[in-house]
Amino acid sequence: MVKIVKFGMAGYGVVGKALVQALKAKKKLVADEHGLEFSLVSVYEFDGMLHSEKGLDLARVAAAQNIRALPEWQPGKLARDEIERQSYDVYVDMTPTNIKDGEPAITHFRKALSSGKNVVTSNKGPLMLSFDEVMSMAAKNGKRIGYEATVGSAIPVIHVAKSGLNGNPVTRIEAILNGTSNYILYRMATEWMDFDVALKEAQERGYAETDPTLDIGGHDAAGKLVILANTAMGLKKTIHDVKTEGIEHVTLDAITMADKEGFVIKSLGTADEKGNLEVRPKLVPKNSPMGAAITGSLNAYRFVTELARDITIIGRGAGGMEAAAAVLTDMIEISKT
Ligand SMILES: NC(=O)c1ccc[n+]([C@@H]2O[C@H](COP(=O)([O-])OP(=O)(O)OC[C@H]3O[C@@H](n4cnc5c(N)ncnc54)[C@H](OP(=O)(O)O)[C@@H]3O)[C@@H](O)[C@H]2O)c1
Repeated sequence: MVKIVKFGMAGYGVVGKALVQALKAKKKLVADEHGLEFSLVSVYEFDGMLHSEKGLDLARVAAAQNIRALPEWQPGKLARDEIERQSYDVYVDMTPTNIKDGEPAITHFRKALSSGKNVVTSNKGPLMLSFDEVMSMAAKNGKRIGYEATVGSAIPVIHVAKSGLNGNPVTRIEAILNGTSNYILYRMATEWMDFDVALKEAQERGYAETDPTLDIGGHDAAGKLVILANTAMGLKKTIHDVKTEGIEHVTLDAITMADKEGFVIKSLGTADEKGNLEVRPKLVPKNSPMGAAITGSLNAYRFVTELARDITIIGRGAGGMEAAAAVLTDMIEISKT
């Protein structure tokens, strides 16, 4: 017997579109291996929603050049008003991350949880700003939040932090959390480019945003570090607690000198044994796992644990399908229990 799980999603951008593709591609696997069928009832965008009580046809949504041209499109109906009114099991948020106040996602979370829906999110805004409040809200309503996609996309670091190390406390985390910064530092160190040239190249190749401030300023990494450290180490930090320094002042001279001494410069996020959080450029030995293997736009996460010492996990930490894969994993896990 396959269990039908109704869901609504907000944000039909890079990740939202990839999620629809992933659900379409993995429909049989999800049914055969997990006994689930996801039925998409609402897609909210900033100016309206696509809605069908009996479930939208994923193939038709995926094939549409413009979802606003589909007959199920209802202009002006917004997530913040519609989430509470509609009845489905899981609400998925893939709206843009807002580092200032977490909106619109935090309002979406509140409305979803208070109206009996579990939440899955790729948007890290609410969790980097109000982790404790969001978790308490979920607990109060007897609901769950899946947020694997917010840190490292499909690299399962949140699963590791939540339950993969039960009984084996994490005492320290070191992580390369931002692919854009890592790419720029890597190109500077391998092609001996200046920062500005490497940034321009990263933008041309689609690794950096037109406004790269959040990435190169270390704020994206700081937000992810908060979510990961709170989960793994039971902290109650926000992004305002992270000492943050970007990579914009790293010079080619500094990289050349580091190289001569056997080091590379990486933008490293650290949660130390006392629970202090920081993100800043640091010297990392070239022949260590973090120094040698983390090239290009990869992410790396090193957990220091009490019983099993070091555990390092490496992978692609961004990309629409990578994030959608993490969202799908959370949707499956939440819907099975
Ligand atoms: N892309 C990745 O590799 C990746 C990886 C991990 C996590 N994430 C996170 O996942 C989220 C989505 O990322 P993305 O790359 O898909 O961004 P995106 O392409 O900008 O998509 C976001 C979509 O949400 C829409 N939107 C804006 N305000 C909305 C509202 N109030 N209600 C409903 N929809 C709204 C946007 O419309 P407009 O464009 O018209 O404003 C856009 O279509 C972000 O929080 C991001 O940080 C992304």
